[in-house]
Amino acid sequence: MTLTLKTSSPSSNRSTPKPFPGDDDSHFLRYRSYGAQTTTLFFVLASLSLFVIFSLYSSPNAIYFATTRQAKPGTVTYVINVRDSSHIRRIKAEGVLWPGWEVMMIVSPEDNVMPLESNYTCFYPNGEKLTAKFAVSLPFTNRTTFKCKLPGVYRHHHPIPTPILASSRSFELSPETRWPDLPLWNFVVFDTISTEHDVVLFVKGPNRGLGSNKPPGTFRCVFGEESDSAVRTTVTSSVQEVFRCPFPNVTMDYPVKIYLERVATEKEAMKVVPSVAYFSPKRTLVEPREKSLLCATTMVYNVAKYLREWVMYHATIGIQRFIIYDNGSDDELNDVVEGLKSERYDVTKVLWIWPKTQEAGFSHAAVYGKDMCTWMMYLDVDEFLFSPVWSNKSKPSDQMIRSLLPSDQSMIGQVSFKSLEFGPSNQTRHPAGGVTQGYTCRREEEQRHKSIVLLSAVEHSLYTAIHHFSLKGEYEWRVADKEEGVVNHYKYQAWREFKAKFKRRVSAYVVDWTRVSNPTSRDRTPGLGFKPIEPEGWPQKFCEVMDMRLKRLTEKWFGYPEKNGYRMAWQR
Ligand SMILES: *[C@@H]1O[C@H](CO)[C@@H](O)[C@H](O)[C@H]1NC(C)=O
Ligand SMILES: *[C@@H]1O[C@H](CO)[C@@H](O)[C@H](O)[C@H]1NC(C)=O
Ligand SMILES: *[C@@H]1O[C@H](CO)[C@@H](O)[C@H](O)[C@H]1NC(C)=O
Ligand SMILES: *[C@@H]1O[C@H](CO)[C@@H](O)[C@H](O)[C@H]1NC(C)=O
Ligand SMILES: *[C@@H]1O[C@H](CO)[C@@H](O)[C@H](O)[C@H]1NC(C)=O
Ligand SMILES: *[C@@H]1O[C@H](CO)[C@@H](O)[C@H](O)[C@H]1NC(C)=O
Repeated sequence: MTLTLKTSSPSSNRSTPKPFPGDDDSHFLRYRSYGAQTTTLFFVLASLSLFVIFSLYSSPNAIYFATTRQAKPGTVTYVINVRDSSHIRRIKAEGVLWPGWEVMMIVSPEDNVMPLESNYTCFYPNGEKLTAKFAVSLPFTNRTTFKCKLPGVYRHHHPIPTPILASSRSFELSPETRWPDLPLWNFVVFDTISTEHDVVLFVKGPNRGLGSNKPPGTFRCVFGEESDSAVRTTVTSSVQEVFRCPFPNVTMDYPVKIYLERVATEKEAMKVVPSVAYFSPKRTLVEPREKSLLCATTMVYNVAKYLREWVMYHATIGIQRFIIYDNGSDDELNDVVEGLKSERYDVTKVLWIWPKTQEAGFSHAAVYGKDMCTWMMYLDVDEFLFSPVWSNKSKPSDQMIRSLLPSDQSMIGQVSFKSLEFGPSNQTRHPAGGVTQGYTCRREEEQRHKSIVLLSAVEHSLYTAIHHFSLKGEYEWRVADKEEGVVNHYKYQAWREFKAKFKRRVSAYVVDWTRVSNPTSRDRTPGLGFKPIEPEGWPQKFCEVMDMRLKRLTEKWFGYPEKNGYRMAWQR
């Protein structure tokens, strides 16, 4: 039996906004991200020129269009005999080109009715069909995603055609089949979150480059597609990858697709940033829970092994709720999170799969956490807040972190703590008792700070430099001195841990740590070079002062005597 399926549904006839026509391709050429961890103008100027030069040679995610041959639309047919044709159907989905020449297919809200974990097929105009593997279900929108490979022939196409997702390997395309341009992961509206008053858009592309935040007035938010009589509202903030707009005034059929468009000027035509994001007004919880005073958020990728120690330690000294942004981990994160929950730790996992979007994730957390948390601590899972003042306390208390925060009457909106970088301390493997037990020798110099932020004090722009946020004008930012509190950063761990960590860096700077993309970044390890080979004498490196303070303290608080010593509460 031959099956013919018309693939041009009414919705696929809608005009899909094109990426800024007339632009040269420079904004597509490669991934670049600035803005984080930039502490001095000198550093900026010095590194920028090097960075640009090196990134020309080195970006592994370079998306380079050598040719601009157009994909020949809809001339291929797939004719395959199938016994049970009742299951064959096209699935309405949007695509976005992902690093590594993969296409992320995001099933659109109208069609989000399918079993998870089963595989579908991506059809391309040249007749190739590739398995679309179930990827994840997106949080909040609950949309199902699949990933398929991009055939080699399209890697040098511009634009790249969006494949068609179908529930069978056999499928006939009609000549009218349309192949909309595939948005690229570095130029797309990729997510939104609504507040009471407005919607926050997370957008890659338009504000790329250091100091290149374009004025809000040059953009507008577009709710809906032209054929549905789209509604536009003004952009009230445009900083980094974060844009904010008031809601449309009219009632619409939610969820509605949301775009960002650059307003036409005398010199340039109106331009639209492609989008895979939808807007729905904020849902108010039926039973809002009591707001926590102190929460912590972190972004993780395959670091489940450290999470128990980090959560248990910080929960004991006063963090009431943990919001973990998971960058697509494929380790035992779910099990660890479920385990912690069953022990009554309040841990929420948020999937945050967008590549190179750590700042945007932190801004998202500032909005997402605002109803649940008064203060938010932003720490990595290898960082532990510690106060020397606690050293003599025989027992921990949940008031300990609170005691480092200002009083309610103060106008301090953020407290930051300097960090101390620990070295491998002779360890050759992950210490059984955890990082606080195993790593005891560190560099002398204090490093960058990490912060606890009053979420209501965060500036409208949601600007974050990872280590701190910009605050509303009336608030002050306080940096604690190291006698009050520090962050123990177990940065240079036993080689096999360190190597893995650097490969999976969530840093916005280092694209691939073996490549020289930003050699002056402080994220680089001094003396390490760019090869993933254990440097001579690694276990003894970065050891200038012995610092046993947190080791002793956690041993006292969390250690249980055992035959051969002691066992830590988080040890399994
Ligand atoms: C989907 O694909 C993956 C990887 O190829 C495979 O392991 C899995 O069994 C497939 N699932 C189904 C339901 O076919
Ligand atoms: C998400 O989708 C699944 C399966 O389609 C459904 O069971 C679940 O209730 C949905 N969750 C939300 C929050 O919509
Ligand atoms: C919504 O409507 C009100 C009243 O008509 C108007 O003042 C306001 O500017 C409108 N807002 C937007 C975003 O269009
Ligand atoms: C802890 O107690 C010892 C002895 O009682 C004292 O010498 C030391 O200063 C105390 N340390 C702190 C940080 O309070
Ligand atoms: C590492 O081992 C050496 C030699 O045994 C010892 O002198 C040093 O104190 C150890 N360093 C740490 C941090 O334990
Ligand atoms: C998540 O991890 C992958 C793989 O290490 C990396 O390419 C990506 O940039 C990370 N995402 C974020 C948000 O940092």
